[in-house]
Amino acid sequence: MSSEEEARVTLKATRLREYQAAKKATRNDADPQTFLDLFCGCGGFTLGMLRSGLRCLAAIDSDPAAIATLQANLVDRDHLGMAKVAHVIERDLRIFQPDQLAALIGTDHVDVIVGGPPCQGFSTARKVDGANHGARLKTDSRRQLYRDFLRYVQFFQPRVFVMENVLGLRTAAGGAYFTAVQKEARELGRTQRKPGYRVHGQVEDSWELGVPQKRRRQLIIGVRNDLPGYFLPELNPAPRAEARICLGTAIGDLPILRAGGGENERNYDAVRVASYSPQIEGILEVR
Ligand SMILES: C[S@@+](CC[C@H](N)C(=O)[O-])C[C@H]1O[C@@H](n2cnc3c(N)ncnc32)[C@H](O)[C@@H]1O
Repeated sequence: MSSEEEARVTLKATRLREYQAAKKATRNDADPQTFLDLFCGCGGFTLGMLRSGLRCLAAIDSDPAAIATLQANLVDRDHLGMAKVAHVIERDLRIFQPDQLAALIGTDHVDVIVGGPPCQGFSTARKVDGANHGARLKTDSRRQLYRDFLRYVQFFQPRVFVMENVLGLRTAAGGAYFTAVQKEARELGRTQRKPGYRVHGQVEDSWELGVPQKRRRQLIIGVRNDLPGYFLPELNPAPRAEARICLGTAIGDLPILRAGGGENERNYDAVRVASYSPQIEGILEVR
């Protein structure tokens, strides 16, 4: 191993130790920790959090199809013994208020708030003038939805929040939104003499974390100022997942599905189980 690689490994090990110590220090007595998923869609973020052992008090989205999907997958179906989502709520988060949510779920205490406010307003795929800040995008009201996310953070004062968006958030309007999101998040609760948040922007690539898809995302992570928070700049793939897996490796052994053919659901798959591959396990469930 070269001295450069050695230094890198040592740094990684030190960061991991620090992270584990900080995690231990921030543990609540009453495990498991709880979370809300705002703009939950069909539940991708929710699923990851459940798999990390947290309990979802509420997942909220305004799209009935997304809500029905989340309900079918993460509530109605027995999902490997994970806690089920307590409340799946179809509401417009611009209108539905945090105190109404607190009344519905019976508490104003949550440990973590996660969410992915819609990204179309920031997507570089919708560039108008080559810089993602043309007139059409400037007036896209979806760019303001991060404020609704922050309103919930302000009310519930979770220990940690994670907002996920596309990389276009960084560049939109010359970086103005990226700066505004972080500045407004830092100030949360300050006027009510609450501690506010340390806020940190981090880019992650799902391919490096075990997802067979090249997709980079901007995370904005906040840790409440009264906690010994720690940002882990280098994330590792989830247990049993492996970095840099191609789609063919992950699902290439599925039976061919012709247009209009196949079944909606089938048991998967004696042959696959027999030819167990550690690369595949952890990406898809084997039932
Ligand atoms: C980027 S997707 C979220 C994806 C989700 N985090 C996941 O992991 O599957 C954004 C979601 O915001 C929802 N949404 C858009 N406007 C909304 C609003 N005003 N109130 C609630 N949900 C809204 C959309 O229906 C969409 O499902």
